[in-house]
Amino acid sequence: MPAPDKVTNITSLQTENRVFKPSKEFSSRAHVKSLAHYRKLYNESIKSPDKFWGKQAREELVWFKPWKKVLQWKAPFAKWFVGGQLNVSYNCLDRHLNTPTANKAALIWEGEPAGAGIPGEERTLTYKQLHHEVCKFANVLKRNGLKKGDRVIIYMPMVPEAAIAMLACTRIGVIHSVVFGGFSAQSVADRIFDCQARLVITTDGGYRRGAVVPLKKNVDEALTIKDAQGNSLTKTIEKVIVHRRANNDVRIEEGRDVWWHREMEQVDANCPAEKMDSEAPLFILYTSGSTGKPKGILHTTGGYLLGAKLTTKYIFDLQETDVYWCTADIGWVTGHSYVVYGPLANGATSFMYEGAPNHPEPDRFWRLIAKYGITVLYTAPTAIRAFMKWGVEWPRKHDLTSLRLLGSVGEPINPEAWIWYHEVVGGKRCPIVDTWWQTETGSIMISPLPGATPTKPGTATLPFFGIVPEIVDDQGKTLPKNSGGKLVIRKPWPSMLRGIWGDMQRYKDTYWSEVPGSYFTGDGCRTDKDGYFWIVGRIDDVLNVAGHRIGTAEVESALVSNQKVAEAAVVGRPDDLKGQALVAFVTVKTGVVADQNLRDELRNHVGKEIGPVAKPDDIRFAEALPKTRSGKIMRRLLKQIASGAEIKGDTTTLEDLTVLTKLGSSEE
Ligand code: WTA
Repeated sequence: MPAPDKVTNITSLQTENRVFKPSKEFSSRAHVKSLAHYRKLYNESIKSPDKFWGKQAREELVWFKPWKKVLQWKAPFAKWFVGGQLNVSYNCLDRHLNTPTANKAALIWEGEPAGAGIPGEERTLTYKQLHHEVCKFANVLKRNGLKKGDRVIIYMPMVPEAAIAMLACTRIGVIHSVVFGGFSAQSVADRIFDCQARLVITTDGGYRRGAVVPLKKNVDEALTIKDAQGNSLTKTIEKVIVHRRANNDVRIEEGRDVWWHREMEQVDANCPAEKMDSEAPLFILYTSGSTGKPKGILHTTGGYLLGAKLTTKYIFDLQETDVYWCTADIGWVTGHSYVVYGPLANGATSFMYEGAPNHPEPDRFWRLIAKYGITVLYTAPTAIRAFMKWGVEWPRKHDLTSLRLLGSVGEPINPEAWIWYHEVVGGKRCPIVDTWWQTETGSIMISPLPGATPTKPGTATLPFFGIVPEIVDDQGKTLPKNSGGKLVIRKPWPSMLRGIWGDMQRYKDTYWSEVPGSYFTGDGCRTDKDGYFWIVGRIDDVLNVAGHRIGTAEVESALVSNQKVAEAAVVGRPDDLKGQALVAFVTVKTGVVADQNLRDELRNHVGKEIGPVAKPDDIRFAEALPKTRSGKIMRRLLKQIASGAEIKGDTTTLEDLTVLTKLGSSEE
C-alpha cells in the first residue's frame, strides 16, 4: 500500500465553537439521558469488554446455542461469540412474530413515479408479511440449488425485494454480495469472479428520474465478459433470478434465467432458519481501496448483527412509534446496516424509497417526510448541500414537524450544512447525529448519542460503546487531546471486518501494517480539548465523491485500459457540492488528438468500466506527468494544481519541471 501523505500537519482546520445541547424533553425520553450516563456505560465497556459485550449479545440477540467465549483475539484476526449459533433473518423477523410487532410495518416503500406528476407506487410489509416473503424466497434459492456458504450477487434497485433477497440469503446461510445498481456490467463481472458467485438476483429494470435503468441487460452483458486471456469471468454463474419491476423488455435465457414471481408460485412459506455459527460469513461488500480492484470486505454473523442492532437502537434512539428513514441505497454498507439489518433487528419501521431526491421536483424528500410522518432521517452531507442549493422554499412547503432526530453519514459535514440541516429541516428542535464509520467497521463507531452528547457542527464527537479510537503520529504514537494525526482503532469490536475475501495478506497489509497492532482507518482526524473527534477525510489514495468511496487507482486503471491513453493520474479537488471532485491528468499515446471528444470518450469509458459515479469531473491532458526521481507520480503537486492553488513545497525532485507549466490549465 502506498504511504499516505504525512499527517502531522492536520491541525489547521476551522474552529467551531457553537455547542448544541440536547433538549431536556429529548433527553428525558432517550435511552441514554446524559453525558455522565454515556461515560459510565462507555467506561464499563472499555474496562471489561467481555462482560459488556456478553451482556449485550445475550440481551439483544436470540441465540440457538450460547457461545463459549466472547472474544478470541489473535491480532489481526478476531472471533466473536465463539461457538455460539444464531440466524440473522430469525433475529430480524421470527423473533417479532409472537409479539405485537408482528403486525407492525417492517418496511414501508415508495417507488419513484414513472413520470412527472404521477404519485409513486406504495407498499407496506408487516413483519408477518415480510417473514412470509423471505421464507418463500429462501425456498426459491434452495430450489435453485443454493446451499450454505454459496455466494450470490444481488444487483437490484431500492425495492422491497432487495431486502427480501438479502434476508432470504441469511436465512439459509448463503453469503450475499450486493452490487450497487449504478455500477456497470464490468463491475458486476469483476465481483462475480472475485467471490465465485453461483447465482445473480436482479430486476428487469429500475427507475431513475423517470428513466429505466436496464439492470437485467447489464447482467446479460456481465455474463459475456472475458479476462485478457479470453477466459470467462463469470462461468461460476448457474442461474439468474429476475424480479419484474419496470416491465421493460428483457431477454430470458432458457435454463439459466428464471422469473422471481414464477418461482415464488412453486414454493411454500415453510423454511426454518439455519443455525449459523457466530463466525459464519454473512456478506461480502466490495469497496474501493488505495490500490487495485475493489476489495471484498467480509462480515460475519453474530458480531455484525450485534453492532448493527445496538448502534441503531442507541444512536437513532429508536422508539416504538418511529418511522425511520435512512436514505442510503442498499448497494452501500449504510443500506445494509441501517436500512435492513439494524432497524429490523430492533423491530422498527424502516422506510425505503426508490427514487432520486429531486424527481419529479426538488421537494420529493420533504413530501415523503410529511406524507409518512417520518420521525428519524439519516442522510448524507452531499444531499444536504444539494438541498441548500435548491433553496429553502422546497422544505418550507411541507410540514416536517414529525421529525425528531437527524443523522449524517459518509463524509465530513461542513458547519454551514449542519446549521442548515438543524434549522431548516430540524426546525431547531432535532438533535443531529454525525456518524463516522466505514464499510469495514460494519456499524457506527464515532457519533453523539442524541439525548446525551452536546454536539458541535462538524464533529462526530465521541466513540460508541466498546470502541477505542486514537489519533497517532507517523510513528504510531498516541497523541494527546487537541492534536491531529491518523485515526486508528486500538481494540477489536464485534462488527469489525473479518478479512478481505480471498486475500488475507491484503487484509493485513491494508489495515494492520501502517500502525502495527492497530486498525488503520485511512482517515486523518484531529481531536479538540473535549476529546471530540473531527474527521478530516481520507489520507490514502481514496476519494470521497458525493459520499461514494472511489479509489484513484481504480479510475487510473480504467483510464489506461483505453487504447488511446498512455498514462493517467487521478486526484481529488475540493467541490462545494460533492465534497470532492475527480480530476484526471492524462497523457495520450503518440498520434492521438487530445481534444474535447477524447475527454467525452474517456469519461464514458470510465462510466462503462466502473459506473457513472466514477466519471472524472475534469480531464486534463499533459505531455508528461510530474514524477520524482524514483518514478513516483507526485500526487501532492497534482492535487495542488487540480485545486488551482499556487504550487508550494519542494519540487526540486521533479524530473521535468517544464511539465508543471503545461498541466496548469484544462485547455490543450
Ligand atoms: C468517510 C460509509 C466524516 C470517511 C459509512 C470514511 C466520514 C469513509 C463520515 C468510509 C463522517 C464516513 N464524517 N467522514 N460522519 N462517515 N466518512 O466505506 O472518510 O463508504 O473512511 O462507509 O467515509 O466510507 P464507506
